[in-house]
Amino acid sequence: MIAVCPGSFDPVTYGHLDVLARASRLFDDVIVAVGDNLMKSYLFSLDERLDLVSQAAADLPRVRAMPMTGLLADFCRVQGASVVVKGVRFASDFDYELQMAHVNSEIGGVETVLLPASREWGTISSTLVRDVARHGGDVSAFVPSVVSDRLRRMATDDRSADV
Ligand code: PNS
Repeated sequence: MIAVCPGSFDPVTYGHLDVLARASRLFDDVIVAVGDNLMKSYLFSLDERLDLVSQAAADLPRVRAMPMTGLLADFCRVQGASVVVKGVRFASDFDYELQMAHVNSEIGGVETVLLPASREWGTISSTLVRDVARHGGDVSAFVPSVVSDRLRRMATDDRSADV
């Protein structure tokens, strides 16, 4: 069975990777669908987010990243996936994911499996990672090195652009 793990991944965190690894143990194939939520503005472009997810998940068996445009339900149909997997941390995540699950079930017949975030990564978010990095903080505890290196380079480039 093919599962799709959709998200913005701006940037991918250890919390995301934990969900991907657990999904890969439950399903035959996992497609990480990297997309744009039109309600959000992003630090990284879609290509950059896709590249970072691909590198970060390279060691996970049967997990591959793809760009997603359009509806998640259509993406699942084209890829032959019948299940969407999402991680949930707090009640607010659950409220949002429940709505998405109902819509995707209604318009695409797609089932959704919600995985509770592990205790270790239960409170980390891409938003917090971006905020810490923007202020020059060390985010290497929360994201793979390919991401922390990229954020550090961005901060350095910004500082040199100010000179
Ligand atoms: O949780 P995120 O990171 O905001 O999710 C981003 C993304 C692109 C995965 C999500 O917005 C999405 O699935 N967009 C596709 C459009 C769609 O299918 N909308 C209806 C879903 S209920």
